[in-house]
Amino acid sequence: MLTTEDYLRILENCEVKGQDESILRALRYIELGYPIMFYGPPGNGKTTIAEHILTSLGNGEDSYIKIEASEGMTEYHTIGGFHPLAMSGNPELAERFTYKEGAMTRALKSGRNLLIDEFTRAPSTAYSGLFLLLSTGSLPLEFQEKILKKPKEWILITTSNFGDEGTFKLSAALKRRFIPIYVGYATKTTERNVIKNITPMLPEEILEAVLEFSEQTREAWKKDRSLPQGLSTDGVIKMARYCDLSIKQGSDIKHTFTDAAMHQGIVIADETDQYSIKLVQEIALAIGNKL
Ligand SMILES: Nc1ncnc2c1ncn2[C@@H]1O[C@H](COP(=O)(O)OP(=O)(O)OP(=O)(O)O)[C@@H](O)[C@H]1O
Ligand SMILES: [Mg+2]
Repeated sequence: MLTTEDYLRILENCEVKGQDESILRALRYIELGYPIMFYGPPGNGKTTIAEHILTSLGNGEDSYIKIEASEGMTEYHTIGGFHPLAMSGNPELAERFTYKEGAMTRALKSGRNLLIDEFTRAPSTAYSGLFLLLSTGSLPLEFQEKILKKPKEWILITTSNFGDEGTFKLSAALKRRFIPIYVGYATKTTERNVIKNITPMLPEEILEAVLEFSEQTREAWKKDRSLPQGLSTDGVIKMARYCDLSIKQGSDIKHTFTDAAMHQGIVIADETDQYSIKLVQEIALAIGNKL
């Protein structure tokens, strides 16, 4: 059972600011024993929040295992399977195999929690054991004639970008086994504070221009998806840091801002769509011209 002090400590110590609602929701569901799936546009702190929660609740970084899902991931990586010893480089062992445990098995056996980052980048076939574990509370390891039980306090957190290029659609049944928690764009006030903290010497007008660029790109995304995403907090931080360094080196304010906005513009636009690139460039130039 988490105390109010625990909740406050976790919120206060989090590097990701202004996402308290999402963190609170996650903590409540974790306390109730449910697995969490953070989702939302890229670069707004999902992975960082997940790592922070796991580190805080489990007493340090060793208390959880993290895996990054990918298209080639199979049950071999989540549960385990036979691994040819030929790959050890010893020719005498070439005909032999060893059993290698997957991340989920290792986590359960060693009493550690689990973070599956970028969950939807792997096909659902990689998760059939996980599905079983979440449905029945146990995971039979056939080759070891063993059944692993899901401990009551076990924490499972996943992160995902639904619908992003290279992601798989989750089956309704697997999705239902998680509590989806949205991590969206932080507010302007939050980002102003974050930037003032990271780059305290950044001229005020540049800071406001970066925030305006962020706001306008998010509006374009929200209104009619004319951009596939808005600038993330990560993008805001990168722009501010680049401008800060560049201005310290004597660059002109207007040129520096436009330069940084063009870089991040390519990140957030659909790079295969000329209209998308043109739109983001127009936003950057319009804001830059006011400097
Ligand atoms: N609200 C915020 N306050 C402070 N830092 C933030 C905030 N949002 C994001 N960041 C920073 O941006 C960086 C990227 O965040 P992170 O990788 O956790 O995002 P993500 O949502 O997992 O992205 P992706 O969907 O691409 O995996 C981190 O260094 C993180 O601390
Ligand atoms: Mg991430």
